[in-house]
Amino acid sequence: MSRRPTIVAGNWKMHKTLPEGEAFLQAFLPRLASRKGTGCQVVLAPNFTLLAAMRDPCRAAGVGLAAQNCHPEARGAFTGEVAVGMLAAAGATHVLVGHSERRHLFHEDDDFLRRKVQAVLAGGLTPIFCVGETLEERTAGQATAVVGRQLRAGLRDVASPAGIIIAYEPVWAIGTGKTATTADAQQMHAFIRQILGELLPAGGAGMPVLYGGSVKPGNAAELLAAPEVDGVLVGGASLEPEDFLQIVAAGDRAAAQV
Ligand code: 13P
Repeated sequence: MSRRPTIVAGNWKMHKTLPEGEAFLQAFLPRLASRKGTGCQVVLAPNFTLLAAMRDPCRAAGVGLAAQNCHPEARGAFTGEVAVGMLAAAGATHVLVGHSERRHLFHEDDDFLRRKVQAVLAGGLTPIFCVGETLEERTAGQATAVVGRQLRAGLRDVASPAGIIIAYEPVWAIGTGKTATTADAQQMHAFIRQILGELLPAGGAGMPVLYGGSVKPGNAAELLAAPEVDGVLVGGASLEPEDFLQIVAAGDRAAAQV
């Protein structure tokens, strides 16, 4: 049985103003506090403008706080960008790196993302490094080749598996209502673990691999039951406290099985 933590992360993308984020926490955190046992780890990824306001309540509740992006440089003339040290000072504990929307809508390439992974680690935060193939790539039989390339490039300079989370998010499942079958997810996660085994000391032991793409209260438990699925990265269904709490409850049940 796996000794890896179970993680339920919510990516709010470009949703929620500051008052909306605070209203979410007011509804969400008291219910989270009523959980019994140790349960899964919960992480929220709001937009940059909410980080500082969410720091104290999230810290007090044991909820991780992820930024959705960063720049690899520590400072400089990069108008509109945010450095890892700034995110840490605002309260971030994690940073999403290489989300498919960054890769595809903002054309971030493998080498730029490798530099971001390095910057996040150097800043003492946890990267949540996202990989995943498009529908065209899957249809062409390229899914594992693409995910393997993304992992090898992004993790090339990583010396230790400690403090890194991987998220497999097939692009065709994001925001589409189409979820990978549990068998598909299990197969890709097993492949990812094999690549981590080749790339990293100690075979990447302890590194959690999350699944993302149309995870909902109705399918989270089944996905989380797959032995290689260590958690979920949730978009749309993390915006409503009730939906996200149901997914956290599924994470708690999965954590109890580990
Ligand atoms: P959805 O859950 O809305 O499909 O988004 C998944 C995702 O991109 C999380 O990072």
